[in-house]
Amino acid sequence: MGKAKLVKFEAIRHMDNVFENNPEHRGKWATEHFNNHHPIVLELACGKGDYARGLAQIFPEKNFIGVDIKGNRLFTGAHLAKKQQLDNVAFIRTQIDHLDQYFEPGEVDEIWITFPDPFLKNSKHKKRLTSAKFIEVYRKFLKPNGLVNLKTDSPSLYEYTKEVIKELKLPLIKDYPDVYAMNKQASDLYGIQTYYENMHIKDNRTIHYLCFQIDVK
Ligand SMILES: C[S@@+](CC[C@H](N)C(=O)[O-])C[C@H]1O[C@@H](n2cnc3c(N)ncnc32)[C@H](O)[C@@H]1O
Repeated sequence: MGKAKLVKFEAIRHMDNVFENNPEHRGKWATEHFNNHHPIVLELACGKGDYARGLAQIFPEKNFIGVDIKGNRLFTGAHLAKKQQLDNVAFIRTQIDHLDQYFEPGEVDEIWITFPDPFLKNSKHKKRLTSAKFIEVYRKFLKPNGLVNLKTDSPSLYEYTKEVIKELKLPLIKDYPDVYAMNKQASDLYGIQTYYENMHIKDNRTIHYLCFQIDVK
């Protein structure tokens, strides 16, 4: 690992808006960390947390938590959140697979998954953040019938997610095969573009969006 990355890894350990190996607020994120009773919304695979920070500005009455494993990207997101004085944004550095250790059943209102790695090889399908395995993880802390939003440039991940939704009989709320051609970016997607999304747009890639519900059994 390069020196700059190591410095950022060390720095996030001392930031009060980043949590690592520390599920101390489980079940009490709103009251203990954010000092309110507002709903909790997650951005998974958040990188620099562009959706978490963008939505936090639009919805000050909600709390947003970005989750990723890459410490250097979280450092940038957490630093920007401080600069923007966004008290309703925090970050967790963990594998998303273990997120149920951080949240109690029903604690999370909504999930955004923004440009996750598509893990195209069949042998890696369980790493896809919309696989049945991950839906079971989300079911453990999402409130009943909570929404999951997926924004992706990968046609394979988009089609795969629709198959999972169908197989698990989850209600599909919105399906935009081409966000920009359908003029949905400004309305349903709040006009927010992520770091990776900008790169995909420059490469003329199509951006897909799905919104579905997870019924809690
Ligand atoms: C392509 S980047 C997208 C970053 C950001 N959402 C954006 O659009 O700019 C995908 C991110 O997902 C994270 N990621 C993928 N699988 C993960 C997992 N199981 N746990 C934690 N992070 C994961 C990676 O670390 C990476 O930062």
